Formats: sequence, C-alpha cells, structure tokens
Amino acid sequence: MATGLVRRAFSRAHSSPASKFLLSRAHTSEPTTQSTHNFQIYRWNPDTPQKPELKTYQIDLNDCGPMVLDALIKIKSEVDPTLTFRRSCREGICGSCAMNIDGCNGLACLTKIPSGGDTMITPLPHMFVIKDLVVDMTNFYNQYKSIEPWLKRKSPSSDGKEVLQSKKDRAKLDGMYECILCSCCSTSCPSYWWNPESYLGPAALLHANRWIMDSRDEYTKERLDAVNDEFKLYRCHTILNCARACPKGLNPGKQIQNIKSLQT
Ligand code: SF4
Ligand code: F3S
Ligand code: FES
Repeated sequence: MATGLVRRAFSRAHSSPASKFLLSRAHTSEPTTQSTHNFQIYRWNPDTPQKPELKTYQIDLNDCGPMVLDALIKIKSEVDPTLTFRRSCREGICGSCAMNIDGCNGLACLTKIPSGGDTMITPLPHMFVIKDLVVDMTNFYNQYKSIEPWLKRKSPSSDGKEVLQSKKDRAKLDGMYECILCSCCSTSCPSYWWNPESYLGPAALLHANRWIMDSRDEYTKERLDAVNDEFKLYRCHTILNCARACPKGLNPGKQIQNIKSLQT
C-alpha cells in the first residue's frame, strides 16, 4: 500500500450516517430544471488535511454529451479543473475510466447519464484511493502478472514459425480474450474485498483460465498447480457479482468454475 492512501469502502457506506468518511456536500443543490443534472462526486486530495467528501456539480445536459464520462470531462474543463479521474479511449477499450456509478461498477464512457435524480460517482470499492476517482491498481496488476499471462512453450513449433491453432481451439478463448482489465469485476467481489492480497480475484483468474485453455500453451498443469490454493482460487464462493459488473459482458465466475473443475 502506498503511504497516505485510504481504502475506499463499499459505496453504500456513503449513505450511512455511520460512514467513517463523514461525507458532506460542499454545495447546496440548486433546484433542477429538465435540462440540469446533479453529480455528486467523491473528492479527496492527499495533499490537504480535509476528509473525503461528496461534492455536488450541476451540469446542463443540453450542453453535454450523453455519457457519464462526458459529464466528468465537462466538469473538469468548465467548472473544476482539480477533479481527477482516469480516461483514455472513451469507447470501452482501455478500461481506465472504471468507477462506481450510482452503486454499480462500470465504465464512465459506456454508462449513459441516468435520467432523473442525482448521480453519485465514487472510486472503485475497497481500493486505495490516490486522488478523487483514481485508485491504486498496483495489487491488481501484480496479481495479473502472477498468473504469467503469456504463451509458454516447452518445445518449438515444428516449422520454427507460429504455433498454429484450429478455429475450434481458438473458440475456446471466447469470453476471456475480450477482457480489458478494467477491474470492475474484482472490485465488486466481496471475497476480493476481504482478501485482496491473498485471493487472486475474478479478473486474474479469468486470465489464468484463458491460458489454461489455450491449446498452444504447454504449461497447463503448472498453471493449474499455481492457482490450486485455498486463498488464491477457493475464496471464490460463486457470488457472481463479477458477471453482473463486467462492462464487456464476460462471466469470470464461470471461468473460475472451469479452473476448479480441472483440478485433480
Ligand atoms: Fe473488466 Fe470484465 Fe475483464 Fe473483469 S472480466 S477486468 S470486469 S473486462
Ligand atoms: Fe467473487 Fe465472482 Fe466468485 S463475485 S466470489 S469471483 S463468482
Ligand atoms: Fe477507455 Fe472508458 S475511457 S474504457
């Protein structure tokens, strides 16, 4: 854990009077018209002594794109340049704009601004916050690295060129290769919340299965052995929040079940 970071509790904590963050609105909301929308956004700056707070910004939807990311960019460009969040592709490919929107993890660039009511935007749950909506992904990426996400061979291909794969074998990777490593799944998993260092979580395990199932890889047994652990693998209790949260429509829980079924 990086010094000075705070772990973001599950978003429901914000609605609880007992919230340890003692959230307060920095602005009083103006009465809304049909074209305005209030965004309550989690703000925390490690360089100031203030506790985290929800700050409300009112945006004219007639002058804003349709997605939550459009609203965040508008707020940063026109209202408050100190607002900090990650984004890059704005089309659901890079995975960097993952955050919690009205209690659900998702990509801001693929989530439409809800009609009616206020929209609450907070960092991914149970992650250490670096600033505002930016969380520390170090542990998540280290877990991904730990499953050795690359092709491993014991022998060269017969002709010394690419290792070929049939269409049927390639199809076995569907539902896994599409992952963009946004971490919406892992940060929605209660087992991952309670054991973030020892349980690999749905994203890393989905990728472990992606290489276990790859017909070209010759380390299948070693890969299965590497995750055959009470904590790394068996902390998955088939809660399936991961499948609900995935913005790419993947089902990491199903891939974890496959790894369990292959263990001898
Ligand atoms: Fe994101 Fe889905 Fe990959 Fe999880 S499985 S990291 S939610 S794309
Ligand atoms: Fe968690 Fe998904 Fe398993 S939510 S417990 S990883 S099925
Ligand atoms: Fe790339 Fe949203 S900005 S996934």
